[in-house]
Amino acid sequence: MPHFSALTWRILGFNALALLILMGGVILVQANGRGLVEERLGGVQQQASIVASTLAAYATDDASKTLKIDDAEPLLRQLIAPTRLRARLYLPGGNLAIDTRNLLRRNVVQTAELPALDTGGQVQSWVQRLYDGIMGVRPFAHLEPYYEGGEDGRVYREVKTALDGVTATAERVDYQNKLVLSVAVPVQGVRAIYGALLVSTEGGDIDDILRQERATLIEVFVVALLVMLFSSLYLAGTIAEPIKRLAAAADLVRSGLGGRSDIPNFPERTDEIGDLADSLRSMTGGLYDRIDAIESFAADVAHELKNPLTSLASAVEMFSRAKDEESRARLLGIVRGDIKRIDRLITDISDASRLDAELSREAKEPVVLSRLLSTIIEIYRMTDSGVEFVLNDQLPPGANVLGRDERLGQVFRNLIDNAASFSPPRGTVTVTATRNDIVARITVEDEGPGIPPDNLESIFERFYTERPGENFGRNSGLGLSIARQIIEGAGGRIYAENRAPDNTQGAGARLIVELPLALQHV
Ligand SMILES: Nc1ncnc2c1ncn2[C@@H]1O[C@H](COP(=O)(O)OP(=O)(O)O)[C@@H](O)[C@H]1O
Ligand SMILES: [Mg+2]
Repeated sequence: MPHFSALTWRILGFNALALLILMGGVILVQANGRGLVEERLGGVQQQASIVASTLAAYATDDASKTLKIDDAEPLLRQLIAPTRLRARLYLPGGNLAIDTRNLLRRNVVQTAELPALDTGGQVQSWVQRLYDGIMGVRPFAHLEPYYEGGEDGRVYREVKTALDGVTATAERVDYQNKLVLSVAVPVQGVRAIYGALLVSTEGGDIDDILRQERATLIEVFVVALLVMLFSSLYLAGTIAEPIKRLAAAADLVRSGLGGRSDIPNFPERTDEIGDLADSLRSMTGGLYDRIDAIESFAADVAHELKNPLTSLASAVEMFSRAKDEESRARLLGIVRGDIKRIDRLITDISDASRLDAELSREAKEPVVLSRLLSTIIEIYRMTDSGVEFVLNDQLPPGANVLGRDERLGQVFRNLIDNAASFSPPRGTVTVTATRNDIVARITVEDEGPGIPPDNLESIFERFYTERPGENFGRNSGLGLSIARQIIEGAGGRIYAENRAPDNTQGAGARLIVELPLALQHV
């Protein structure tokens, strides 16, 4: 048995089933269709009537109201010999007067088949029965058996009826399961019935025609089966095979033996299989991108941790050789700064690395922006930072966005921290919230030096930090990159500009967050 995929077998199976049902239906309809049998019966009846009226006209004795057998014999012989029919003439009492089979035997070789030799085998006889059942005249239909009536015509129902003056027909099957059609016609004169003429088909002639038809049907069936087979295999080939290849490639990627380029590409296919391949490729690409991002993050982290460690190492080295109190104090200050920076880095890094998973896994909930912002500003006002915090909230009451309360709070704290740290003494940090159609727009403005126009984008990069010296160590450079990750995870965007109309430094910086409002407030 060829090694086909499960899908291939299924396609083959269903197509074969459909074909079988169709063919079965055709055979059944054809077998039950009485057309051929009826036509044949009509023909036999017509011939029988002609022969009967000929007999009535030329082979009867009007005076004694009897058949003249001697005259009837040659008539029957002439009329029946050219056909494949058998005629029997019965006297009014039902006795057989003439049987053309006996008449013609001298001239014509009888072709009735002998019963099949009993070859014994159970299987063989079963197969034979099945074959006859299918190929026989009336598959699976039960007809009255035909047997030879001998001298007494009254064993045939139709002969009895004909002797009463009425034409009758009958369908029977002989011991070889072949159809025997018979018509009995009264041979009658003006007021007398001289006898009955029984005309019957010789077993087998209709069967041969039917068998021929059915053989043709089976040929058609075989051709249809072959076409089905090839079309199914083609169909399966276009579905099952590429799926198998995709699965194999996916396995390779999973086991680490394959790369992103190993997923097969079917550029010529615009169907679902092509879509599937594209999706798998882009999924693999996406996964590799994530892996790459994680790897470069790990590399960045290692690099960032290395800096303060190097500085720490050299400070400790120098400390052992430091002579005076003053330089020792200075070195201790450096050590403290480095430790602070490492601590800060590790805190932010673990925060950032948790963020990705958290953003994708945890459910979002409505966050009321006004409440969030006022709480944050309240807390900043309580600290003794020497900076004034102003909240200018123009949002409609209850306006909310979908996200996570703590994470959005973290974004605004990052922005306000930055703004406060760049603010001049007694400067003002202004947080403004407005609604623009379906978007909430929150800006954080300060009165500090602003951001170099070339760096407006790069400040969002991981570990980017650029601060005046004394703040060294307090910052990891992760704040804005984390903020961007959170805001994009909530479907919004974050960007920076300078407050000066021409975007130059001097008038302070403005960080802008835009978040889509939850629908019920639109
Ligand atoms: N309000 C601001 N004014 C001027 N520069 C800013 C402001 N906010 C951020 N920056 C610049 O963006 C950089 C990155 O910020 P951030 O990611 O929060 O890192 P960090 O605060 O640790 O330095 C800062 O180092 C600073 O150079
Ligand atoms: Mg910061």
